[in-house]
Amino acid sequence: MDRIAIIGGARLEGVIPISGAKNSAIKLMAASLLTDEPLRLTNMPRLADTRFLGRLLQRLGTEVEEREGENGAETLLHTREIVSGIAPYDLVRQMRASFNVLGPLIARTGQAKVSLPGGCTIGARPVDLHLEALRTLGATIDLHEGYVYAQAPRGLIGAEIVFPFVSVGATEHAMLAAVLAHGETVLTNAACEPELADLADCLNKMGAKVTGAGTPTIRIEGVARLGGATHAVIPDRIETGTFALAAAMAGGEVRLTRTRSDFIDTLLDKMEEAGVGVTRHEDGVTIRRNGGRLQAVEIETDPYPGFATDLQAQFMALMTLADGESVIRETIFENRFMHAPELARLGADISVSGGEARVRGVEALEGAPVMATDLRASVSLVIAALAARGETLVNRVYHLDRGFERLEEKLGACGAQIRRVAGDSESED
Ligand code: EPZ
Repeated sequence: MDRIAIIGGARLEGVIPISGAKNSAIKLMAASLLTDEPLRLTNMPRLADTRFLGRLLQRLGTEVEEREGENGAETLLHTREIVSGIAPYDLVRQMRASFNVLGPLIARTGQAKVSLPGGCTIGARPVDLHLEALRTLGATIDLHEGYVYAQAPRGLIGAEIVFPFVSVGATEHAMLAAVLAHGETVLTNAACEPELADLADCLNKMGAKVTGAGTPTIRIEGVARLGGATHAVIPDRIETGTFALAAAMAGGEVRLTRTRSDFIDTLLDKMEEAGVGVTRHEDGVTIRRNGGRLQAVEIETDPYPGFATDLQAQFMALMTLADGESVIRETIFENRFMHAPELARLGADISVSGGEARVRGVEALEGAPVMATDLRASVSLVIAALAARGETLVNRVYHLDRGFERLEEKLGACGAQIRRVAGDSESED
C-alpha cells in the first residue's frame, strides 16, 4: 500500500483552495434516496468515502454520475425507485455513515434492513439515539443477527424527539426521516454543526419544511413528497482547520480560500492565543508564522461551536513544539488519543490519562516511520512531520484518502517536501 513521505523543515507559502465538506457530502448523498427526481450536488469532494457511499446507493437503486461541472466536481444522484432496502454488513462496516440510509429508506418505502455499524477505533460509537429517534417517529425496530429491521408501513409520524446529549449523526438521521413524516417533528438538544444547516438547506430546496437547523431546536413540518434540487456542498471546516494548523506548524504564510473562517472560530482563537498570525477574509483565512516558538494553550473538545474533536489530533501535533505544557481534553470520543504514541515516535513528550493528554513541548521532532488508525490521527502525523528533522514515512495512507482530497498536491504546491510512495502490501502493518 502507498505511503506518504515527508521531509520536514520547508516553510509553506501559497494558496490552498478548500474542498467541499466530506461530512456534509455523505449525508446529502443519502438525501437523494428521499426523492424519485435527480439531486445535483456541486462542490463535491472526490474522496474514498464519497465513492464508497456512491457504491452503496447504487446497490439500493440510485444512478450515480460523477462529472466535472462549471465550478468543479459534481455528482448527480437519481433514485427513480428503491430496488433494494438492504444495506449489508460489508458495506456499512467500512463506513459508519452508511448507516444513515436507514431513515430515508423507511421514510420512502416503509421498510429497511440495515446492518449495525459496530465499534470503531476512536470509540464504541453506539447508534442507540438513532434507533430511539426512529422509534419515536413510529417505526418498529427489531435487531437480529447484527441487522436493524425497521418497518413503518403506514408512514412515519411527526413527534417530539429530545436527545439526551448532542449527536451529529442522530440529529441528521432524525431529520432525514422526519421530512417525509405525517405532521410536525421537533428535535430538542439537536446538534448545531454547520453540516446540519447544510443538510436542512438542501432538503428545503427539495421541498422540505425544516426550520432552526444550526440551533438546538429544529422544527420539521412533514411533506408528502420531495423533488429534485441543485445544491452546493459547504466548505470542509476540518480540512480548513487542518491546513491552518499545518501552516502554523511549518511556518510561513498560507491563504486558505473557498472556505469560511467563521466555521473554525474556536480553533482560530486558540491559534492566536498560541501566537499564530490569523487574518480572516470573506472567502477564507490567512495563517502566518515567522519564526519564534508558540505558547502552549489548553483545549477541550465540545460539540459545535466548541473545539471540534476532528481537529484535536492536529492541534496536539502543533502543541508538541510549543513552549510549556498543553492540556488537551477529549470529551466526545473515549479513545481518541491513538495518535499520541505515534507522535511520541517523532520525539513528542505526551502522557495520556483517561480523556486528558498532557503535551510538554520539546525543542525539536525527528522524522520516523509512523502509522495511525484513523483519518484525523493520520493527518496529525503529516503535520508533525512538516516540522520534524529528516524524513517521516506515514503508513496506512488509505485513512488520509478517505477524507482529504489531493492532500500531498495541496501541501506540495505551497513548498512542502511531500510525496506519495507506492509500496507493497506486505510491509505495511
Ligand atoms: C460525526 O460522527 C462525524 N462523522 C465525526 O467525524 C465527528 O467526529 C463527530 O460527528 C463529532 O463531531 C460524520 O459526520 C460522518 P456523534 P457521529 O453522533 O455523528 C455518542 C471524521 O473523522 N453516540 O455526534 O458518529 C458517540 O459514541 C469523523 O470525519 C451515542 O452514544 O458523532 C460519541 O461519543 C470521525 N449514541 C458522541 O455520541 C448514538 O446513538 C457523539 O457522536 C450516537 C452517538
